[in-house]
Amino acid sequence: MNQHAARLDPVSIPFIDLAAQRRRLGRSIDEAIARVLAHCQFILGPEVRALETKLAEFCGARHVVTCASGTDALILVLMAQGIGPGDAVICPSFTFTATAEVIALVGATPVFADVEEKSFNLDPASLQRACAAAREAGLRPKAVIPVDLFGQPADYDRIMPIADAESLFVLDDAAQAFGATYKNRRLGVLAPATATSFFPAKPLGCYGDGGAVITDDEELAQVIRSLRVHGEGRGKYDCVRIGLNGRMDTIQAAVLLEKLKLFPEELLARERIARRYSARLADVATVPRLAPGSTSVWAQYTIRVAPGRRDGLADALKACGIPTAVHYPIPLHRQEPYQRFPVAAGGAPVSERLADEVISLPMHAYLDAATQDRIIDAVWGALAI
Ligand SMILES: Cc1ncc(COP(=O)(O)O)c(C=O)c1O
Repeated sequence: MNQHAARLDPVSIPFIDLAAQRRRLGRSIDEAIARVLAHCQFILGPEVRALETKLAEFCGARHVVTCASGTDALILVLMAQGIGPGDAVICPSFTFTATAEVIALVGATPVFADVEEKSFNLDPASLQRACAAAREAGLRPKAVIPVDLFGQPADYDRIMPIADAESLFVLDDAAQAFGATYKNRRLGVLAPATATSFFPAKPLGCYGDGGAVITDDEELAQVIRSLRVHGEGRGKYDCVRIGLNGRMDTIQAAVLLEKLKLFPEELLARERIARRYSARLADVATVPRLAPGSTSVWAQYTIRVAPGRRDGLADALKACGIPTAVHYPIPLHRQEPYQRFPVAAGGAPVSERLADEVISLPMHAYLDAATQDRIIDAVWGALAI
């Protein structure tokens, strides 16, 4: 290879290194998949139930119902709650589209609330204002979907009393935060229902799409089990409600069972890497702030930079072979399909500021110190001017 070219063209690093994890897990996953190929129970095979039991143990919850994706997990809960036309469901504007999309898909109306400056999570005061906005629009506020953004739990001690006072069902969108804790309790038991995602890039990801609903409510779990198989009743051709095809493939369950064994160790690695980033970047950017009593699974490590500096930083890092991502460049209430829905009084100014200032750096459990130093040096090089 031409040495000169190699120097000018730095080796690119991955944003999330799934191959590094695969190298560590490789054979065990291959063997787990081979077992499914041997027994041929591709739909709701034994690995699915085994995974549900392990996930429930992990969260300290009574029931886990796996499903085809995090999006389906959210929809299944809204369907089970009978939420539909005329109902308002409040959610933060600063989140991934799926949080609001599912509300519209069941025929209800998303009502957007703002997030807090420190945590990027739902602002309880704005939640209260969003309920008022829903009523003014002639809607019945029925539920709230707090999101545990980037892996950090929302502030449930402040959200729950408002939800109780407003008679809102709370559906935790923990798509990015499976494994995180809030005051020593794992997500999954903080709300009556929690939805999560096992999309490959998530801290616990499978090799395709996957998701789960976590709940202590036996009846809700049963309804969701029925809904995920076309609303089946006692038998396959006994239909008791309108459902969908929302099952997790057995092969994905087999993958997750293997990955779950390493997950606690990977969470510690993520925590160590996030602390190292924060210690070294705090003087040059606004680093993530964890609320006391919370842990994050660091689905993203997202910093804030001064308005107008983000594109320059992304370009400088790209030139060094370092990918970045913007989660999320446009708050949902400003996205074209969602502009017609109500927003809490006062709007969502924090969501708008964050959309202009946040940038996520490479983050995964296998990010070694030398690579991380390269990223940190590049950020300093771009921002300390
Ligand atoms: C906050 C949030 N909610 C829901 C989802 C949907 O999950 P899935 O991609 O598994 O459908 C995602 C996925 O990225 C997400 O980040």
